[in-house]
Amino acid sequence: MINNTIKEIADNFTQEISRVKSGQELEQLRINFLGKKSAINSLYSDLKKVSIEEKKDLGAKINNLRSDITQKINDLKSDLEIFEINQKLEGEKLDLTEPARSEFKGILHPLTKVKEEVENILSDLGFDFADGPEVEDDFHNFSALNIPKDHPARQMQDTFYLKNSELLLRTHTSNTQIRKMLSSKPPMQIASLGRVFRCDSDKTHTPMFHQVEGFAVGEDVTMGNLKWVLENFLQRFFENKNIELRFRPSFFPFTEPSAEVDINYGIDNQNRVVIGKGDKFMEILGCGMIHPNVLSSCEIDAKKYQGFAFGIGIERLAMLKYGINDLRMFFDNDARFLHHYGF
Ligand code: PHE
Repeated sequence: MINNTIKEIADNFTQEISRVKSGQELEQLRINFLGKKSAINSLYSDLKKVSIEEKKDLGAKINNLRSDITQKINDLKSDLEIFEINQKLEGEKLDLTEPARSEFKGILHPLTKVKEEVENILSDLGFDFADGPEVEDDFHNFSALNIPKDHPARQMQDTFYLKNSELLLRTHTSNTQIRKMLSSKPPMQIASLGRVFRCDSDKTHTPMFHQVEGFAVGEDVTMGNLKWVLENFLQRFFENKNIELRFRPSFFPFTEPSAEVDINYGIDNQNRVVIGKGDKFMEILGCGMIHPNVLSSCEIDAKKYQGFAFGIGIERLAMLKYGINDLRMFFDNDARFLHHYGF
């Protein structure tokens, strides 16, 4: 009887193991055939009822069956594990023929681009470069530039004053002109580009913006030199040999004579300003011959030396060259704007 049961269990096991497809099913099979409540386990209780002779023979057969089943389950277990790992790897397979994801490249801010263009051109025109402090004192920002206290010109430049201090945020890059004239001897031809601050904010003004200042001091520097420099600078910057400039008399305390320069432009059929093509004129910069009082404040002999100076807004140059129409866009850091105009 026990013999028959052994055979039945063996057949049953062969059938059931052939249907197992996962580790979970195999575990269930192991519990069914080798667990406490399994048929094999109850065979051991049945052994108690047979003679010693038979017990030896049947006991060995049951043990064989048990180790046979254990062996087969273990074999299948490792086969299934390999199969499952392979299946997982299949899902993670690299397809080297797939097109690469496009990489995100950094770009230059339009103002950085314009700054580089301006510096390159001025450098070709023979200018050296200097930086000045953004936090400045009254002397370098105003008095030395022939703007004494209570002079109405101070009101033109809405100044940020520092609390409990004599210091202020520079309102123009002309402070660097003073610092360089004080620290070096003529002849000199220097440009300075940087941030300036005025408490003003609307569509055409931001509290911080950028200027480039150029100046030259020597024994025979003339207004003709200034005109030549500005014409060459603007022709190259706007990549247009046909630009026309108008030097219109103006007033700055630190230059005499002073001029504002207008440049010709037209409007294209998409309503955009095009510099150098057309017969309208707009103001683009301020300039003049350095006032003798300014030279004297910097201990330069105003009888022997003369100089010219000009100041231009960098944002204005960028807006005109690249057709950007809202000044505030430069400082919003909207990634779409940067990508559209960035370089
Ligand atoms: N500093 C002047 C300004 O900011 C610009 C300027 C510079 C004008 C040099 C003339 C000469 O308004």
